[in-house]
Amino acid sequence: MNRIETIVVVGGGLAAGRAVQELREQGFEGRIVLFASERHRPYERPPLSKGYLMRAEPLEKGFVHPADWYDAHGVDLRLGTPVTGLRPDQHLVAAAGEDLAYDRLLLATGASPRRLALADESGAPVAYLRTIEDSQHLRQRLAPGLRVVIVGGGWIGLEVASAARTAGCEVTVVETLTKPLLRVLGSEVADVFLRLHEEHGVVFRLGASISGVESRGTTSVVHLEDGTDLEADLLVAGVGVSPNADLATAAGLDSDNGILVDEHLRTSNPDVFAAGDVANAHHPLLGRRVRVEHWDNAIQQGRAAARSMLGDPEPYARLPYFFTDQYDLGMEYVGHVGPEGYDDVVLRGDVAGRVFTAFWLSGGKVIAGMHANDWDAIDPVRRVVSAGSVDLGALRDSSVPLADLA
Ligand code: APR
Repeated sequence: MNRIETIVVVGGGLAAGRAVQELREQGFEGRIVLFASERHRPYERPPLSKGYLMRAEPLEKGFVHPADWYDAHGVDLRLGTPVTGLRPDQHLVAAAGEDLAYDRLLLATGASPRRLALADESGAPVAYLRTIEDSQHLRQRLAPGLRVVIVGGGWIGLEVASAARTAGCEVTVVETLTKPLLRVLGSEVADVFLRLHEEHGVVFRLGASISGVESRGTTSVVHLEDGTDLEADLLVAGVGVSPNADLATAAGLDSDNGILVDEHLRTSNPDVFAAGDVANAHHPLLGRRVRVEHWDNAIQQGRAAARSMLGDPEPYARLPYFFTDQYDLGMEYVGHVGPEGYDDVVLRGDVAGRVFTAFWLSGGKVIAGMHANDWDAIDPVRRVVSAGSVDLGALRDSSVPLADLA
């Protein structure tokens, strides 16, 4: 292998922040340049829709490293400096009008919120939640009596609903599917979240399609196909994200729903790697590609890509993991239900009381599991999902402790 003198990281989020840390922890002594389009140093996003938005945590807690860490570790941090072009065949990146040569390149360019096109057309203001500024804006607006309409009953929509109800707003969630979180959790566990929010006073418009969005002074009006009009002082959209793969695609790197990488997080160019929300990676345990948009994946893939760039042959095989906190419900989920879905769910514990575990099965194997408000359960849940094949009779028998299953 050629000597590695310069590693360039493009991005500026959590995956990038952890990647540069890992490079130094692995003993890499060469030059590291980190280009970030944002003006903030790398930060974590969970607090932006949870603790920070709820005024329970200061912003400072969310930064990946203290401000002086980058200098102290010889990381040349170029904030507010988007990379504008890549020439992988020449090992060059272009930023701020200059070319910089690299030996290894990591693309950790993340994802951007999908826009609500109907609102863009009408000029009605829409709040999205992705950046520090987005969260600051929402945090400042949420106040008792404010009429908040949230489009999208996914993670962002429900976490904003939770923060908005806690702040005393009137909240309506508009969701295309028949239940919130239906695609990721399936009907049985989606019901738990639906009930949770309804008990906290959230109004749902499910199976709803928006036919138009209108701006009337400081009020936005959301027209639904069934003829209902919803008036909002604040309109929020959480309708998913799309991977920021344009730079890679323009440079000729293979992409399809993100940048395609192998199990070493290597792109179609051997010296270019990708990690985090933008990486659509072959997963050796799942046996297919998966693009994971969660916090843990950004950390672990950032670190793994750093090691791969330095020549470590270990594949990235960590199971997807995510968590959420809404009102008094905390949950952690591990595994992945693929496009073919699941054929059974096993629920253990007190589902109505929201202290339980759930396992999703396909073809007699456990493919995902979660716990709600049962924090000691995450390790056994992870073991069961990692094992895949467990005694299903014992799994269905709540008197058998989880810890005895795998
Ligand atoms: N009208 C109503 N609902 C819609 C519309 C629409 N026009 N378009 C999409 N939806 C719904 C989807 O059915 C889905 O339930 O919006 C929801 C989007 O949910 P997610 O895909 O979870 O996306 P989002 O909530 O925006 O979160 C984006 O941020 O925090 C991270 O990990 C989180 O990956 C997630 C990302």
